[in-house]
Amino acid sequence: MARSIAIDGPAGAGKSTIARKVAQELGFIYVDTGAMYRAMALYMLKKGVGADESDKIVSSCKEADITIKHENNEQVVYLNGENVNGLIRTEEVGNMTSAISVNKAVREKLVELQQDLAKTTDVVMDGRDIGTVVLPNANLKVYLTASSRVRAERRYKELVAKNVECNLDEIEKDIIDRDYRDMHRDLSPLRQADDATLLDSSDMTIEEVKDKIIELYKGA
Ligand code: DC
Repeated sequence: MARSIAIDGPAGAGKSTIARKVAQELGFIYVDTGAMYRAMALYMLKKGVGADESDKIVSSCKEADITIKHENNEQVVYLNGENVNGLIRTEEVGNMTSAISVNKAVREKLVELQQDLAKTTDVVMDGRDIGTVVLPNANLKVYLTASSRVRAERRYKELVAKNVECNLDEIEKDIIDRDYRDMHRDLSPLRQADDATLLDSSDMTIEEVKDKIIELYKGA
């Protein structure tokens, strides 16, 4: 039976950095489910489907073949055979992802893919609904959060390092709005699973969070 760790939480809590490190230490595969939603959104954008055209989203979602592979320890997302890792991190794709991830057909298709992966492979999977919907029987569930200010400061530093002009208060406002949308959507809203451990990374280093998760997993 394959083993699994589910990590959920709001945007900017450090899920992907930490999930990747935990996976590396345990020899598990890291699965970034947000990247799958992003690849689906990219397909819709390429086809010219509008964010509010739910019928077209349902029909196009059936045509999008999304697969993930692991190459040199990195997850690579293929959309109809094309490696799209370099195309899914834009603002435009991010906004479309947020719109299409409320669609039932999109979620059903991607959740099935995620569950299939976890059947045969030891995984650390991160997202919004992993502990609640995708892997209800995960060996360990973590709900990773941090204050909106700390998350905004982390994002601000990343953008400044890339020479992008930005404003800390505006970033924090975007984060608060996005949290609200993720937590209040009808389908699979972001919430802590009843049996998940809450970790607040506001005053913890990446290493401390990683070590805590490994400790929790070993004790589980
Ligand atoms: O984690 P991320 O920023 O790459 O996620 C992109 C979007 O996908 C975000 O708006 C939430 C959505 N998402 C989701 O609904 N369910 C998941 N399991 C993962 C991401």
